[in-house]
Amino acid sequence: MRILLAVLCLTLAACASQPPRDDSLYRSLGEQAGITRIVEGMLLNSARNPRIAHYFRDIDIERLRDKLVEQVCVEAGGPCEYTGDSMEESHKGLNIDRGDFNALVEDLIDAMDAEGIPVAAQNRLLARLAPMRGQIIER
Ligand code: HEM
Repeated sequence: MRILLAVLCLTLAACASQPPRDDSLYRSLGEQAGITRIVEGMLLNSARNPRIAHYFRDIDIERLRDKLVEQVCVEAGGPCEYTGDSMEESHKGLNIDRGDFNALVEDLIDAMDAEGIPVAAQNRLLARLAPMRGQIIER
């Protein structure tokens, strides 16, 4: 019993001492509703962008929207879980190059501008996504 109590105390102490999650970026992006508008705006921009539109023609665009919203929410420190495939798996064989990657980033920036997201918050999100570049581009 005493051991059980000790374990319980330690567990509670560990929980209590955990720093709170920093969700400031999540809030700056407008939480779930704002992130959904940003992702949908980006996908609409990409569908009209002659450089990369072809990538998004024959895919399950609703799934992509949902997985992107989850991922951006997680990266922004929001209360979400990413349930999609890894970046490597989902972009394998698409033959995405650096110019394609930059084009998508521009479409994302335009979508954030349209939502009135401050540049500092935009840059924080871009900095969270930039390290994924190596897993996405193939040439
Ligand atoms: C940081 C940049 C990027 C992120 C965070 C990202 C994220 C994602 C996510 C979360 C998925 C869905 C995974 C799933 O279905 O489980 C996905 C799929 C996809 N991405 Fe990206 N992506 C990025 C860059 C790009 C670029 C540059 C392109 C092309 C220009 C692209 C084209 C696609 C396509 C076509 C799919 C769907 C593949 C399929 O359903 O077969 N992505 N991406």
